[in-house]
Amino acid sequence: MREGLFITFEGADGCGKTTQIELLNEYLIKKGYKTLLTREPGAKGLGVKLREILLNYDGEVSPNCESFLFLADRAQHIDCIIKPAMKEGKIILCDRHTDSTVAYQGYGRGLDLGRINMLNEIATSGLKPDLTIVFDIDVETSMQRVGKEKDRMESAGVEFFNKVRQGYLEIAKNEPQRVKVISSSDTIENIHKKVVELIEEL
Ligand code: TYD
Repeated sequence: MREGLFITFEGADGCGKTTQIELLNEYLIKKGYKTLLTREPGAKGLGVKLREILLNYDGEVSPNCESFLFLADRAQHIDCIIKPAMKEGKIILCDRHTDSTVAYQGYGRGLDLGRINMLNEIATSGLKPDLTIVFDIDVETSMQRVGKEKDRMESAGVEFFNKVRQGYLEIAKNEPQRVKVISSSDTIENIHKKVVELIEEL
């Protein structure tokens, strides 16, 4: 049996996942659990440098190159941060992971899904989340929340984000055991309650 729990949070930009992860983290700490709050891209160290390129580089980045940079960040994150924390029996709350690459680079940029799944498998050495929560948000609200100051990914446009959203819903449909969808069009408190219900089931 493996130790620790690995929970990932997904959704389009502006879906409110960061707020929800922080609320859940406080809830779990109060209950006496040891947690690790982390994110992709750029949890720390080398990842921070990769994040800087991924979000702010203003020259041309090919979709393949973009995918490999996210995957490089993921491999480092899994090996140096997530696996050690799992061994310590922690509950890992990870803001974005493999499904972001499937939704953004696969569905969004149009790269081959089979290849992305295979590369994700290599980057994670096969470690899969115990639970993934997707916060579903309509594209208009998502764009409004992101506002005018957009990073490189957020500037990809409405059509791109429609594909990303559909991608997440497809992922959830294909893996209903692991992936649960919560609508972001509710109050922060109600969404938190739904998140807690899913965690308690684990
Ligand atoms: P971030 O500021 O962390 O966004 P958010 O707060 O919405 O999570 O930026 C990460 C961006 O990178 C976000 O637009 C999603 C994108 N991304 C991918 O395109 N592929 C990936 O594999 C990952 C992890 C993120």
